[in-house]
Amino acid sequence: MRKHAAIEAGHSAFTQSSYFTDKVAMRKQVCSKLSAVDVLDLFAGSHDIWDAVGCDRYYGIDNYLKGGNLPIDNRKALQYLDLSQFNIIDADAYGMPYEQIQMLYENGTMKSGTVVFFTCITGPMNRLSRRLIDDFGIDSEYKRTRTLFNRYGYRYFHQMLKSHGINEVVSIIHDGSMRKEYGYFIVK
Ligand SMILES: C[S@@+](CC[C@H](N)C(=O)[O-])C[C@H]1O[C@@H](n2cnc3c(N)ncnc32)[C@H](O)[C@@H]1O
Repeated sequence: MRKHAAIEAGHSAFTQSSYFTDKVAMRKQVCSKLSAVDVLDLFAGSHDIWDAVGCDRYYGIDNYLKGGNLPIDNRKALQYLDLSQFNIIDADAYGMPYEQIQMLYENGTMKSGTVVFFTCITGPMNRLSRRLIDDFGIDSEYKRTRTLFNRYGYRYFHQMLKSHGINEVVSIIHDGSMRKEYGYFIVK
């Protein structure tokens, strides 16, 4: 995987191949620098990514696919989990894991240095979460121009990360009718 020119302030980007291959390569690169890899996978699915990457300890949550995962909504689990047990947290969502990342910070046990991987997919038809709309106070504007706000929803996602002191995100961005961003940041 090769770094190329930054495309937005505070962003690094990688050249693209297939999404799954990129996701695995990015995680392998980060893990190669860690002495132990203890993973909390918030959107575990069939844990294909972490089966391919490998780790020392794995704890998966999924509200639909059971296969060894804790079968609940990750937002419920984030109210009580001790996040200090993990140095990797994965939020490989179908859309934008805005609420989950806010909850990681609100949980109060996440360690500085934890690496948080995320998938953030936005597009005209991908609705913004109620949590995001309330945090940014954009309810009335959102009702008027929903598709425009949906399209650029990732800007709120990055603003939220900045509010937690995250000024550097490493990511791969595929920008088409939908914007797909696969990345990670390190908790301050
Ligand atoms: C993109 S897939 C994850 C694929 C997975 N990372 C892998 O390596 O196979 C997203 C998964 O998140 C689950 N999911 C969506 N919303 C969730 C929620 N609120 N809590 C827990 N799981 C959720 C879905 O059931 C789906 O399996």
